[in-house]
Amino acid sequence: MKEKIIIFDTTLRDGEQSPGASLSILEKVEIAKQLAKLRVDVIEAGFPVSSPAQFEAVKRISDEVGVVIAALSRAKEIDIKTAFESIKTASKKRIHTFSSTSDYHILGKFGSDKYGKTLAEKRNTVLQMSYDMVQYAKTFCNDIEFSAEDAGRTDLTYLAEVVEAAIEAGATTINIPDTTGYTIPDEFGYKIAELKRRVKNIDKAIISVHCHNDLGLAVANSISGIENGARQVECTINGIGERAGNASLEEFVMALNVRKDKFNFFTDINTKEIFNTSRMVSAFSGILVQPNKAIVGQNAFAHESGIHQDGMLKNRETYEIMTPESVGVTKTMIVLGRHSGRHGLKKRLAELGYSPTENELDKIYASFLKLADKKKEVYDDDLRTLMGDEVYKESNNYELMYINVNSGTSSIPTATVSVKYKEKEFSDSATGDGPVDALFNAIDRAIKKKFKIESYSVRSVTSGRQAMGEVVVRMLINEKRYSGRGVSTDILEASAKAYLSAINQNEIFINEAEKIKSQSSITEVI
Ligand code: KIV
Ligand code: ZN
Repeated sequence: MKEKIIIFDTTLRDGEQSPGASLSILEKVEIAKQLAKLRVDVIEAGFPVSSPAQFEAVKRISDEVGVVIAALSRAKEIDIKTAFESIKTASKKRIHTFSSTSDYHILGKFGSDKYGKTLAEKRNTVLQMSYDMVQYAKTFCNDIEFSAEDAGRTDLTYLAEVVEAAIEAGATTINIPDTTGYTIPDEFGYKIAELKRRVKNIDKAIISVHCHNDLGLAVANSISGIENGARQVECTINGIGERAGNASLEEFVMALNVRKDKFNFFTDINTKEIFNTSRMVSAFSGILVQPNKAIVGQNAFAHESGIHQDGMLKNRETYEIMTPESVGVTKTMIVLGRHSGRHGLKKRLAELGYSPTENELDKIYASFLKLADKKKEVYDDDLRTLMGDEVYKESNNYELMYINVNSGTSSIPTATVSVKYKEKEFSDSATGDGPVDALFNAIDRAIKKKFKIESYSVRSVTSGRQAMGEVVVRMLINEKRYSGRGVSTDILEASAKAYLSAINQNEIFINEAEKIKSQSSITEVI
């Protein structure tokens, strides 16, 4: 009989830690609803103690989404208590607490003598702390996951001791993360097999794996993990996450699906929702999917060479190991236009996985009409892009009111802008090396600030001359990265919107930091 693998999705927690990713609370709730449609088993909704916005997002998801909701916490009482507060209304809840176990982490993070003088003493402190904190978490709920951070580089004998203590204290899931993406599949699989063999109470917990992709091996390591006894896999949509990301949910799930002949495992994932989920996460997070990305990349089912096309025409299986339809990529393109109406728009959005409230639909309908005026045919990708543009964003501090840009081969590019900030309008003009530079300089002058841009990219969302342009601007402000997205059929307008959106992300961050300062319980741990 095939055995079930629990899919623990951490797009909203580890995924959101991707450099430059920023999701609003409403976007997180919408993604969580889509993850439920995809039928993941557990949603890790965030790290509640880290900020009021994180707390609020986890709480809203707990109120609205009916799968197991996990909240992350360090092995500290305040984290655990806050994590529970945020998930207490969920019908199924899990506290996920973690301690660092590798010598790299123990020596690097617990350097002070407070944890002991020698490595052996420090290891003992971590062991005791893990036990105590799992026991403390257990006073709030029954479903407790414990992670041994950097388990991939942790000494096996010590790891086995920590795992045994965590289970003894009440952990029901033991997660073995390859935090730095260092291990190789047979080595990682061996670690799981040895834990199964050495830890005497291991049958009282489910073993989970959480692999990072620094060497491009996250999915391979996860597969090796389940072949050696793990029964939960932690993963993210599009493989987003810290640095090179996490194991990609779609790749792991489709490997089990396509190679049913080889694997004795199954998941409950509704694979037909994979594509919608991938595109929703990409549009909201601003992290584009690389064209050649397995399963969900734009080219994943494209056949370019003549020989391949000929083979495909004769028999799809010549070059295709799964159908696009099996992951929700359909050829039937439903095109909307000006006369499609609000109802038609709502219906198509629902088919793409979105469930806007009536107020949100008002906003999107207004943007849709503007777009349909400029562009006769509105495609699915246009709609997805519009959804990621404004609908679920926190209210903007800086809003673009007007731009005028003059540029030519023999003139100095000049831009004039008007920006609204807290009900007041600020206008100014500037020149630049090119029209975009002039535009950004004019915005800087209008709002009397200066920003450093790390990267600027522009792409067309759909094909054809009237395609919408999507601009992503990444900025570094006080050592923190912010990314802003703007879309329009006019790429200069899209550029100005993206620039202001990155500045608005920074404003949101500053407001959050102020709120944190005024809440003493959170200040204690940050
Ligand atoms: O990579 C990691 O170790 C983590 C833990 C917090 C589970 O994300
Ligand atoms: Zn991680």
